[in-house]
Amino acid sequence: MPTKVVIGAQWGDEGKGKIIDILAANADVVVRSSGGNNAGHTVEANGEQYKLHLVPSGILYPDKLCIIGNGVVVDPKALLEELDMFASRGIDTKNMIIDARAHMIMPYHIELDALSESSRGKSDIGTTKRGIGPCYMDKAERSGIRMHEFVDETVFRRRFRENMEIKNAVITKIYGGQELKYEDYIDEYVSYAQRLAPYMADATAVLYKEIKKGKEVLFEGAQGTLLDLDLGTYPYVTSSHPISGGVCVGTGIGPTMIDECIGVVKAYTTRVGKGPFPTELFDETGEYIRNKGFEFGATTGRARRTGWFDAVIVDYAVRTSSLNSIALNKVDTLSDIPKLKICVGYEINGKVITDFPYSLDTLASCTPVYEEMEGWSGDLTSVTSYDGLPVNAKRYISRIEELCHVRVSMVGVGPNRSQNLIR
Ligand code: GDP
Ligand code: IMO
Ligand code: MG
Repeated sequence: MPTKVVIGAQWGDEGKGKIIDILAANADVVVRSSGGNNAGHTVEANGEQYKLHLVPSGILYPDKLCIIGNGVVVDPKALLEELDMFASRGIDTKNMIIDARAHMIMPYHIELDALSESSRGKSDIGTTKRGIGPCYMDKAERSGIRMHEFVDETVFRRRFRENMEIKNAVITKIYGGQELKYEDYIDEYVSYAQRLAPYMADATAVLYKEIKKGKEVLFEGAQGTLLDLDLGTYPYVTSSHPISGGVCVGTGIGPTMIDECIGVVKAYTTRVGKGPFPTELFDETGEYIRNKGFEFGATTGRARRTGWFDAVIVDYAVRTSSLNSIALNKVDTLSDIPKLKICVGYEINGKVITDFPYSLDTLASCTPVYEEMEGWSGDLTSVTSYDGLPVNAKRYISRIEELCHVRVSMVGVGPNRSQNLIR
């Protein structure tokens, strides 16, 4: 059963899309298991750049089955825009299915995301405002609309009207917002449902059969470990489970069917949105990394916060997702920085800890403990083998392996499919 889970090991945007696209060359099925169009996965191939939000990053190969699993929250409008984008660029998306159990993001979810963020004032989470949290809230509250109800027009009309009434009470009475009108949306959403209906399937059954047949399956993570609802920097997290454990719940297969877990990691750290970030840089090095690494969100375009590599975080991801290896991206971005720092622990009350703290108050009072390493210079984007990397880059990678207790199996030296060194 050659099945591989690929997850983000930091705060998202580690380059998961690129790694999935590379590994998909030898896979049969690519599955998204969690999150929604809060994700933005960039793939560069054949001289083109694609930004994927809901469609799995295997779609650029015509023969791969792409699955949107039951754990994904689907904004039908956003998905159709993405499918139209692919169609206009000559990419066939017929080889995609959506699990009938997936929950649908409705206009009131998007409205409530914006209203709850603004009501939080300065302590807002910095969400992508795509309605992700409110949709997962309805799922947990057992009032959400699932794909199979969405495509049944009679059921959908009833459920949409009922839900909208309740949400309008919250929108107007709690937040003082403008109520949404059923009539303004219903025809539009019914037409989306008609277009998406052919994609619906019991994806859990399809996936199980593919795995049993010995097909190679890739599980494409979204977001990252520290955005996990349970294990991340709560409450500055998303509302799903980006760790490897989330894959089983989000696709309907059991843990004994997973062969390998790969973490995708950046050679430094970034975060978009609010919340603590111990190794954040506020100086010209941070700015240099942001500009050179083009650290601007693939979904919202927001500037990403940048900082030194934090081994405490990646070690935590190795533990919480049982990672077998990591793919280390963006090593090329760190070229020409004379001295690099790696965070090897956090100092708190005179003690150094290496287990990522569960409390944000503890995290806030931690001071990162750094180890300094010699940098390297020159453009790495045309390096074609691991041996061809500068010796200091190899030392940096080896130190990351020691500190995070994991093997680095791939090294990224550029955004393209071809700029990936296998070790
Ligand atoms: P994802 O959400 O994890 O798929 O990552 P994003 O696509 O949001 O952000 C990663 C960014 O880094 C994208 O712009 C990628 O094209 C780019 N990228 C990925 N790997 C590398 C790499 O090794 N070097 C460079 N320079 N860019 C990379
Ligand atoms: P990919 O898959 C980076 C962040 C948001 C915010 C928090 C909650 O591209 O790595 P949400 O809209 O999910 O309720 O926002 O989570 N966030 C991401 N940050 N990459 C992502 O996805 C993210 N998805 C959500 O910025 O801080
Ligand atoms: Mg992204």
